Amino acid sequence: HDIPRLLSLCFSLDDMERTAQKLLSRPAWVYYHSAADALGALQNNADDWRKIMLRPRVMRNVRRIDTSKTLLGYRVKYPFFIAPAARAGLADEDGELCLARGAAKMGVGYCVSSVASFPHGDISRAFYENYGGSHGTLWFQLYVANEKAVTMERIEAARRGGYKALVITVDSSVVGKREEDERHRAETSAGSLSSSFSQEPPLSPPVDDAARNDQGDPLPLRGVHSSTLNWDDLVWIREAWQNSGPIALKGIQTAEDVALAVEYGIDAVYLSNHGGRQCDDAPSSIQTLLEIRRFYPRIIEDRKIEIYLDGGVRRGADVVKALCLGANAVGLGRPFMYSVAMGNEGVLKAIQLLSEEIETTMRLIGATSMDELSASFVNTKRLELE
Ligand code: FNR
Repeated sequence: HDIPRLLSLCFSLDDMERTAQKLLSRPAWVYYHSAADALGALQNNADDWRKIMLRPRVMRNVRRIDTSKTLLGYRVKYPFFIAPAARAGLADEDGELCLARGAAKMGVGYCVSSVASFPHGDISRAFYENYGGSHGTLWFQLYVANEKAVTMERIEAARRGGYKALVITVDSSVVGKREEDERHRAETSAGSLSSSFSQEPPLSPPVDDAARNDQGDPLPLRGVHSSTLNWDDLVWIREAWQNSGPIALKGIQTAEDVALAVEYGIDAVYLSNHGGRQCDDAPSSIQTLLEIRRFYPRIIEDRKIEIYLDGGVRRGADVVKALCLGANAVGLGRPFMYSVAMGNEGVLKAIQLLSEEIETTMRLIGATSMDELSASFVNTKRLELE
């Protein structure tokens, strides 16, 4: 494939997605693309950004603008980051290494999944080898596993690799019901599983002793993540992390849980419905942000806890809208996985497209720095009606 030519024909992240669909193997496409149940949360994620209008201010001299930000203590050039998504290796043999290099070169953040195709030390090396020393940051996404020892190993890998923050995913007590995935698996199950797809963790292996059916038989749970995870576990996770950096909770979906996170002294909350792959009737992250603004306005005003969010972000304007409403930065999952289908150049292109859109939107609404972004630049009435 002539990747430079394909990239020269991509003018948006949506263009990149269409191109990636042609390049990716079917198992990779299905795995990245799928979402839970009736795809309701996935659809909300896409739709809700469109329901927010911008309120452009004019005649403000926007020749020079500054899009940089500090995220959990580290400077980044743009207020978006690569969200953690498992198995970038399905898209390109360099997988996560492409993402790490791209983020470091372009000065943005990268949150690496627990379930990466490369050892976490290799990924952090790829990041720091390309890091200019001033902009960019690397985080570790932690899935708390059924076995504590596995979780401890992951935390240790994060510490050793110089990851700057621990981002604990809390929305995955079981794996969501992703029918496109399951259908594909069923269709190809007669011993013909492609080698890449067989790297998938089995969907229902571990059996939870506590959950039993009427006959007293143990019930299988969907997945490999701990279904017992609770707020008290933060104690031993913190201990294992040994204060190696801030801790964030990813997958918060209500204002109440944000308030709890504040109580528990968490450094950042990451609002997300996991790209619509977990609870199908979950709110979009921007809805959750509005809920926080309504019920706990102090949390936004005080700025003691950083707020991240993701889901359906495909345009620079979406990033700007989230920041206007109080988010510190925004993650993108699928778009970056699709960009990996075009290797290192694909990742650079995705970052470039998004950053240029952010700059253009900032100029068009009359804002010259991240600090200036405020709710006065958005009209959320259409979203609030619901
Ligand atoms: C994910 N996501 C995810 N989240 C996480 O905490 N750990 C993980 O390993 C993964 N893996 C993963 C794989 C794939 C293929 C996707 C699409 C997503 C969720 C991810 O971090 C993020 O929340 C969503 O992808 C955001 O939605 P968009 O940007 O894909 O619309």
